[in-house]
Amino acid sequence: GNPVDYQAEDATITNGVAESNHAGFTGTGFVNYDNAVGSAVEFTVSAAAAGNANVVLRFANGTTANRPMDITVNGTKVASALAFGGTGNWDTWQTVTIPVTLTAGTNKIKATATTANGGPNVDKITV
Ligand code: GCU
Repeated sequence: GNPVDYQAEDATITNGVAESNHAGFTGTGFVNYDNAVGSAVEFTVSAAAAGNANVVLRFANGTTANRPMDITVNGTKVASALAFGGTGNWDTWQTVTIPVTLTAGTNKIKATATTANGGPNVDKITV
């Protein structure tokens, strides 16, 4: 189907906060992950039918250090310590595309920080 946006600030946030103090976000803001291992955002994504899809995650990382995250779909890890490198500053957003397989109906897509720096700032996913 057509791509649908799922805003991070509307998702389930574990150890992070919705903020809007850096420009360029979509929706009403973005999620600032706590600078800790295990901080996470879980999106609830609806699929009309089972099958393959691309998850396009939009993020900013104003540091020069990678902010890797594990990506799970319905509890299964589909990407381990996926790189979210520096974007130059916190107002500059880039995307990373993650191929996934969805089930029909509700899917839980979670991005969990794997280092003490936490995740990048996450604006949204588009599926
Ligand atoms: C800064 C920045 C935040 C960011 C944080 C971080 O405080 O303003 O948006 O989340 O750095 O390093 O994670």
